[in-house]
Amino acid sequence: MSSLHFNRYISPFMREEADNALDDGRGPAPDMPIHRLQNNENPLGPSPRVIDAINAVAPSLSYYPNFSDIELRRAIVDALGRGLTAEYIFTGCSGFEALELIMRAALMPGDEVILSSPTFAGAYKKVSLPLGAKVIDVPLEPETFRYRPEAVLDAITERSKLVMLCNPNNPTGTLISGRAVERLMRGLPDHVLVVADEVYHHFVDDGDYPDSLRYVLDKKNIVIVHSFSKAYGLAGLRLGYGIAKPEIANAIAGLQRGFHQNKLALAAGIAACRDQGHVRRVVEYLRGEAHWLCAQLDRLNIRYWKPAANFILFETRLPADELQEELRLRGFLLRSQTRNGLPYGMRLSLGSREANSAFISTLEDILNTSPACR
Ligand SMILES: Cc1ncc(COP(=O)(O)O)c(C=O)c1O
Repeated sequence: MSSLHFNRYISPFMREEADNALDDGRGPAPDMPIHRLQNNENPLGPSPRVIDAINAVAPSLSYYPNFSDIELRRAIVDALGRGLTAEYIFTGCSGFEALELIMRAALMPGDEVILSSPTFAGAYKKVSLPLGAKVIDVPLEPETFRYRPEAVLDAITERSKLVMLCNPNNPTGTLISGRAVERLMRGLPDHVLVVADEVYHHFVDDGDYPDSLRYVLDKKNIVIVHSFSKAYGLAGLRLGYGIAKPEIANAIAGLQRGFHQNKLALAAGIAACRDQGHVRRVVEYLRGEAHWLCAQLDRLNIRYWKPAANFILFETRLPADELQEELRLRGFLLRSQTRNGLPYGMRLSLGSREANSAFISTLEDILNTSPACR
């Protein structure tokens, strides 16, 4: 008799690791202030109108939400403009779940998913591997982290199904240029779907950023993923969505559970979309912080990659895992990039000026006093 088999990629050990992580803000000492600079969250929080909307629906939580998310999809397309209609949108309970719905809808065992590391590979693998897909890595150029469309096209086979384009890319904070995406889109065969993971798109201030919505409107094989976790400041709510031509969006939405979106998420998402002024204020503030932090890193002679999103990848002479621990002991949570193949790489989320300035002083102090050298 065969034993019980689970289709599982993440082991219980990793769950234990997650349970013990200090992501919830518990610090080394109970009275020490904790600066959460590890998850690319929004230090300014959500729009006050979102809080009002959540408070307004809270008393009716004993009733199920609307069966359809159509009102939210309409609010999303009103915010996006460009002549999009609600048929182009499917919502997910987070950007991560939007990615998961895409993969569940598209992937058969043996299909190939092309990604370009270092990228948001942990999440892409977590969903695609249990579906029996094969992950093909066509790495970014070393050092510059430039995307290599020709190399990706060379890797295409009959079994290629998805090409993951993380843009701006996490954890490098770099962009894939409009020209590179155009080269890719022109060269891909019809059996391949591009997944443009653009959860940080609001922060981009670069004329070379691709206009991915144009490809959607031209009915190309592309699906764009957005999230309410970043510029909208709603990471705790878990709300995201995808944008694709209606036949693709419908196929993906077909996988949603009944009452897929909870009532708070529906109300909050709609209110957030209707307050674009808040998004503009957040983006302006964080661009200012990016500018200030880059100047500080320049002053300290620390290597970093020009950030296109709300986080910065930098390298010091200290191994990143060690630096992460030194910072944690002083109340600063950051994400070492050892797991992404960058043993000296640290990812810093842009915080408030107070947090950023305290972080820089602490980093300076650690680097001046640490005996460990590269
Ligand atoms: C590149 C990228 N894609 C998707 C997500 C998922 O975002 P969420 O699930 O919070 O919407 C993240 C989160 O940090 C991300 O960095």
